[in-house]
Amino acid sequence: MRDKLKKLKEEALSVINSAKNKMELTELENRYFGRKAGELTIILRGLKDLAEVNRKSAGELANEVKSLLEEAINEKRGILSLVEFETRLDEEKNDVSQPSLPPLEIGHYHPNTLVQRELEELFTSMGFMILDGPELESEYYNFTAVNVPPTHPARDMQDTFYIKNHPDWVMRTQTSAMQVRAMQKYGAPLRAIVPGKCYRNESTDSRHEHTFYHLEGLAIDKEINFSHLKGVMGLLVKQLYGSDAKFRLRPKYFPFVEPGVNGEVTCFLCHGVGCRVCKNSGWLEIVGAGMIHPNVLKEGNIDPKIYQGFAFGFGLSRLVMLKYGIEDVRLLESGDLRFIKQF
Ligand code: DAH
Repeated sequence: MRDKLKKLKEEALSVINSAKNKMELTELENRYFGRKAGELTIILRGLKDLAEVNRKSAGELANEVKSLLEEAINEKRGILSLVEFETRLDEEKNDVSQPSLPPLEIGHYHPNTLVQRELEELFTSMGFMILDGPELESEYYNFTAVNVPPTHPARDMQDTFYIKNHPDWVMRTQTSAMQVRAMQKYGAPLRAIVPGKCYRNESTDSRHEHTFYHLEGLAIDKEINFSHLKGVMGLLVKQLYGSDAKFRLRPKYFPFVEPGVNGEVTCFLCHGVGCRVCKNSGWLEIVGAGMIHPNVLKEGNIDPKIYQGFAFGFGLSRLVMLKYGIEDVRLLESGDLRFIKQF
């Protein structure tokens, strides 16, 4: 038995050492350690039949051989891995004669996103939170809750997409739809902005598009007054267009505010002289705003005798046009790469 073991050891070590690849090594592993017919397995299994005097020393030797072979196999496997790796490196060597691949195109933010981010930064620095709302909205939040009851003529100010078979749903025409949702959820005091997509059934032209972006905002607290609104609007204009940008507020009716105003900046194209973009007025309307109507506060479960607030809705697409001198709003949603790549 001892001789048999020694012979097996010598032979096994030599074949293991000369194995050329991992497959050969696995075959050898099976040959010696296979559960049924492994050569060493059979010897180990036979130990129990030996005479008592020989059993112990043969057992010891057999285990010694076993660990020796296991070690040899592991070591050889390590060496073979290294060799395989080196061969692969050799094969994958750079071919310097290969023509270079075209550079990867890297995407970037849409101008809408750039302006939206800039404004989010400004408003969060003043303690406003950023809210998101549904684009498919109930007629209640889009109109009724913001003081536009069903038969009110103000509904005609916005050409609405209604949803077939769902008389209570609309594609939101304004992010003002989030005003009462925010009040009902967070109560007063409250400062929030809502950037987002709006939809209107417009006949499109260079200033009107069926899909556009608004940025709504509202601040509710005790002792809020009109000067707060004016201060915040002025700050935004300076942030976007520089400190010498001209800005003016004029009275305008919006059902959800009282009093209501229209904020305008000088036209980017004609610098106030008058052109087709500003309809010859020299000014471009960028925001509607005002002091929140008591009916809207009440709808949001806020007591108008204790709290007041201001609200505003910027045409985000309009701000983008002004900032970058874009003359046609339809370019923004066109998906035309010649346009988009300029930003
Ligand atoms: N939602 C209005 C629009 O789409 C803009 C607006 C006007 C929003 C006055 C306001 C506001 O919050 O107070 O034309």
